[in-house]
Amino acid sequence: MIPSLGILLAGVRRSRHAIAKTTPVSALAALLFLAAATFWLLFLGPLRSPHTTLSSGASTHGLGATSCDTTLGEWVRDPAGARPHYTNATCAFIQDYQNCMKHGRPSLDFLQWRWRPDGGPGCELPRFDAARFFRIVRGKSILFVGDSLASSHVTSLVCTLSEAEIPTRRSADGFEHWRFPAHDFAVSFFWTPFQVRWRLTSGPPAAVGPDRQGEVFAGPNDLHLDEPEERWMPAAKENDYVVVSASHWFARPAVYYRRGQAVGCHGCATTDGNVTALPPRYAQRAAFRTVLRALAGLDGFKGTAILRTVAPTHYANGGWFDGGECPDTQPLDRDETADMAEPEGGFYRAQLEEFRAAEEEARKNGVRLRLMDVTRIMLRRPDGHPDRYGHGAGDHGGFDIDCLHWCLPGPIDVWNELLLQIMSG
Ligand SMILES: *[C@@H]1O[C@H](CO)[C@@H](O)[C@H](O)[C@H]1NC(C)=O
Ligand SMILES: *[C@@H]1O[C@H](CO)[C@@H](O)[C@H](O)[C@H]1NC(C)=O
Repeated sequence: MIPSLGILLAGVRRSRHAIAKTTPVSALAALLFLAAATFWLLFLGPLRSPHTTLSSGASTHGLGATSCDTTLGEWVRDPAGARPHYTNATCAFIQDYQNCMKHGRPSLDFLQWRWRPDGGPGCELPRFDAARFFRIVRGKSILFVGDSLASSHVTSLVCTLSEAEIPTRRSADGFEHWRFPAHDFAVSFFWTPFQVRWRLTSGPPAAVGPDRQGEVFAGPNDLHLDEPEERWMPAAKENDYVVVSASHWFARPAVYYRRGQAVGCHGCATTDGNVTALPPRYAQRAAFRTVLRALAGLDGFKGTAILRTVAPTHYANGGWFDGGECPDTQPLDRDETADMAEPEGGFYRAQLEEFRAAEEEARKNGVRLRLMDVTRIMLRRPDGHPDRYGHGAGDHGGFDIDCLHWCLPGPIDVWNELLLQIMSG
């Protein structure tokens, strides 16, 4: 039933020549899509996975409880940080494409940094404290909804918490669940690259044989921008925290719908020329508007909805398909300007604006809406990706150099500190 990773990726490889000739946006889309395909496989398969999320921007919290903005700061050397909360020996949930240590990453220097927000005393981001986290979340649950980067955050969180208690894991109805019975806490993950209702035009993977998986993933998507995906939204109100984040897949070719009518498309060779070309940021913004408003007004939901902002990629000298790489071995220091590539910059701006636009309604309905702004923090970590250490020799399955995902353990672990900060607020 479940196609092998090799087959999935082989399918993707088949389509990469077309992609390589097109724009960087398409390339990124393909990359993400590939990442998601990998993820999808892991998600369906017997492995564990995921997670994503978070970060801050206290000034945009809505509560105004603090005056410092944790998104501004710098990565500083911290030898204590060299002792990560987990390794591939203590946490069995790390997936292969995140397991940079297993694949021989030559230096672990990338673990010896911590994020120090500007603002001095009162504005620190303390090292993650599992005991404190578990005190806050006792009797509660958190749901992460998103793509492979969301999955990576879930893995990071679950691995970090494993220091205190090893969770049980099970899959059901498209969800993955981790339980920490001693601390009465549950983590769930639902994989969706768009959050709104979507469909691969060529049909779901289950509808075709393994030899056609690549075509399925390469096909354009139908995105219903005004409809939250009904597979996860009902589960939201059963959780105390819901973290939404997906962005990267919006760069892929898609036809956009509102009220069931096609209103535009991106990267689509329309045959009849009737559909207006629209940029990915149009769809990504619309999807976040839909989902944030749905959570803000969700009947029976009185929890906290968290928007985790886009985590930037760091491809240089090309893309994933033509030798692009992420050769940096250190974080950018504060004097180095870090420019965000498009469409990621536009995705980030749209998230900030849609977050603000949804705040009022959330407040009226008693829903806490919080921003976990990781974008500028991660922009300064071009050294934190798997690079060529996301797979074994000759086993890259089309994803030779990965400057999109993050090594685990790695800089993505700071997202848990941001999450704890939001929960404490
Ligand atoms: C963990 O990483 C080490 C290298 O640090 C590697 O030798 C080992 O195979 C990895 N183990 C697992 C289970 O991934
Ligand atoms: C395209 O638009 C024209 C004019 O509105 C309409 O007659 C035609 O049916 C449309 N074609 C499709 C495939 O929707």
